[in-house]
Amino acid sequence: MTQKIGVVIVAAGSGSRFGDPLPKQYHMLGGKSLLGHCIDCFAGHTSADLIQIVYNPDHQDWYDQTIREACCGSDIPQPVAGGTTRQQSVLNGLRALNAKSPDIVLIHDAARPGISDTVITRVIGALKTHAGAIPTLPVADTIKQADGNNIILRSIPRDSLHRAQTPQGFVFKTIFDAHTQFEGQELTDDASLLEQLGVDVVCVEGAASNDKITQRDDFGRAQDWIETTETKETSMSQEEYRAGTGFDVHRFAPGDHCILCGIKVPHTARLDGHSDADVGLHTLTDAILGAIGAGDIGQHFPPSDMQWKGAASDIFLKHAADLVRQRGGRIVNVDLTLICERPKIGPHTPAMRQKVAEILAIDVDRVNVKATTTEKLGFTGREEGIAAQAAVSVAVPVK
Ligand code: CTP
Ligand code: MG
Repeated sequence: MTQKIGVVIVAAGSGSRFGDPLPKQYHMLGGKSLLGHCIDCFAGHTSADLIQIVYNPDHQDWYDQTIREACCGSDIPQPVAGGTTRQQSVLNGLRALNAKSPDIVLIHDAARPGISDTVITRVIGALKTHAGAIPTLPVADTIKQADGNNIILRSIPRDSLHRAQTPQGFVFKTIFDAHTQFEGQELTDDASLLEQLGVDVVCVEGAASNDKITQRDDFGRAQDWIETTETKETSMSQEEYRAGTGFDVHRFAPGDHCILCGIKVPHTARLDGHSDADVGLHTLTDAILGAIGAGDIGQHFPPSDMQWKGAASDIFLKHAADLVRQRGGRIVNVDLTLICERPKIGPHTPAMRQKVAEILAIDVDRVNVKATTTEKLGFTGREEGIAAQAAVSVAVPVK
């Protein structure tokens, strides 16, 4: 069942530390206000009528202009007025959204225009297993605690420290009840409320571009970010997409495990072959080579060459991925099907996806591994071996 995703974007602050009569959320960055960037990014993840903006009615003209310029501005519901604290503003937004009964809600600061699809997707993904999820970044500097005279009391080990960002995502009812319960108390972010209640909130990877704009200096950093994104978008328009397919078979031989997608899978036979006979990785290698017109695995790693005897197939796949990068390209996604009656593949697919993503150095959500039987028909049905087929998409620069 698809989840109904609500979004609250808080934009009712006055930006006192930014120190400009124009509140920071209405400053322009690459032709759009900071708030406008946020609206357009979230609109890609939910229907516009579930995006609730919280604003200061004194900013009406600036707000109207932002809505005119945003891609889906006309579909955004009327904003609600914020309060004197961020927490009160969030609660006002949640109250407005409550009427639309979202399943989950993402609460975001308008002062973070560098929010990306990737970070939003990570937060939404983590909400499948947790009531709360927030993007964070590791702390790079050594952290000191000092007394009132600035005399250092101690260094705080930074390994377990995380810098919290937004959007902070929650099961709607859980965070709505918590905000209602804590109304009037001052807590600096939304996750803190659930911490008080002992509800687990998980950290997912944030992004440096998603850091908050607080001071004037932060604006320069955001301008750098927008320029890089624009450059990326320009080069994107000069990319073309290529598809590649792969197919491979290895027969069974006496043994007690198979190596499939780099994972050791216990079985009553092993796969026979010159290398480690990882039929999954061979198939993916062929598919990637196919997409860039680079022949097949046998041309790059001849079976007659003794150096590949017993080799871990990671090197074949990594080589194919390196060839894509050398051409200035990137792997968009890979989809692999393993075809066998046994061993059962399902329990191993999360580890296999992870492993393939690591070898290719791409996000795990760009990798899919699935399996099927052939209803006991043919050589896979008779359990004589395992077959695999793959499709990949690769983006390469147009020459
Ligand atoms: N915010 C809000 N209502 C408030 C205070 C803050 O909606 N009463 C919003 C801000 O607009 C911002 C986000 O919460 O998008 C994070 O707050 P912050 O960075 O502190 O922004 P400001 O409060 O505007 O800035 P300052 O604290 O410097 O005045
Ligand atoms: Mg503030």
